[in-house]
Amino acid sequence: AIDIAKLRDQTGYITIDAGYKNTGATKSAITFLDGEEGILNYRGYSIEELAEKSSFLEVAYLLIYGELPTEEQYSTFQHEITTHTLVNEDMRKIFEGFPVNAHPMGVLSSLVSAMSAFYPETVDLDSPETTELHIIRLLSKLPTIATWSYKKSQGHPVNYPNNDLDYCSNFLNMMFSLPVEKYKVDPVVSAALNKLLILHADHEQNCSTSTVRLVGSSHANIYSSISSGISALWGPLHGGANQEVIEMLEAIKNDGGDVQKYVDMAKDKSSGFRLFGFGHRVYKNFDPRARIIKKAADDVLSKLGISDPVLEIAQKLEKAALEDEYFVSRKLYPNVDFYSGIIYRALGIPTNMFTVMFAIGRLPGWIAQWKEMRANKEPIGRPRQVYVGAPKRAYVERSER
Ligand code: ACO
Repeated sequence: AIDIAKLRDQTGYITIDAGYKNTGATKSAITFLDGEEGILNYRGYSIEELAEKSSFLEVAYLLIYGELPTEEQYSTFQHEITTHTLVNEDMRKIFEGFPVNAHPMGVLSSLVSAMSAFYPETVDLDSPETTELHIIRLLSKLPTIATWSYKKSQGHPVNYPNNDLDYCSNFLNMMFSLPVEKYKVDPVVSAALNKLLILHADHEQNCSTSTVRLVGSSHANIYSSISSGISALWGPLHGGANQEVIEMLEAIKNDGGDVQKYVDMAKDKSSGFRLFGFGHRVYKNFDPRARIIKKAADDVLSKLGISDPVLEIAQKLEKAALEDEYFVSRKLYPNVDFYSGIIYRALGIPTNMFTVMFAIGRLPGWIAQWKEMRANKEPIGRPRQVYVGAPKRAYVERSER
């Protein structure tokens, strides 16, 4: 047992809060989240309204600069972003060294980190122009880099950006155009992508965002900070869950479609299996993004005329879990990632690119949070611990151990 009095003597009053479940690391004016009521607002605007009415770039502007842009601000922002979409050709040489089966998240975090070497100007918050340029570069180049890894996995040449297209259409064009066949961007597909990116754009102090803030708190450059966020997002308990969800649904389908078997397995702690796409650290009644996305998945599949057996499995699984005492008592509901993979599949995006899509969506949030942390002159992040290891002991020579 831990001797609390002794620990206080040794360490002072240190609060242990594993996973920071109840520790606020900062004050933030960006995103409001009420997990009990299922409310998510960016800068005061509800996620429902933004997903319905806004464009992803507009939401990015809102998150980063605090207000929705005027027509003029929007067109300047859009213009800046479209004119920075090309990536330095020397970065292609780094990219070409990756194996063909490299996971696109590994490629993405490495190349974003490499941007710090290509654009070494330090961020000086007293020189807003430099900071702005870094922000614009990140927003404009991330989709270009993301499509490279997909193209490589297909053995196809990469596509250059087309500055006549909007953000989402440009991404789709770079993904799917072939030298022999130009891709025609379907407005239904582009609108669905726009909505998904908005839903993922920020989510207060989640694992990847806290990582971006923590790395940035040492005044590390913005590219290194965002690259760390991408790495944190990759984990299956965070952004990697969207890939795991589809792989799990496919496995259930290939195993005869018995969803109850998998629900039972998830309830058995010794199995080590969790139902991916269920549960959330903060939402304990429902995830408002999951509601929007579920409807969007139905709309996209019906508009594109796709009937996806994996969707049927998803619906059955959701029903079985929501009727099960284990999931009900622990308030485990489908989260945003339960349905996002189904839409991405319908848009033709391969499973191993799902977390990359999440990263593209989350980028404005990471940038906004990084900027806020620096602007508030927050101190370096440095949690404490309670030491529970060996007491002081004498060194024993190797020959005598
Ligand atoms: N399947 C089965 N049991 C689960 C699941 C699940 N998906 N999620 C949580 N539980 C159980 C836990 O075993 C625990 O049970 P216990 O009280 O008997 O010990 C209880 O529910 C509480 O779970 P915790 O792990 O303590 O909750 P925490 O807040 O730490 O974790 C998390 C949240 C990581 C999201 C978790 O629910 C999970 O692993 N879900 C699956 C992965 C996933 O979908 N991640 C995406 C999150 S959303 C996002 O990043 C955008």
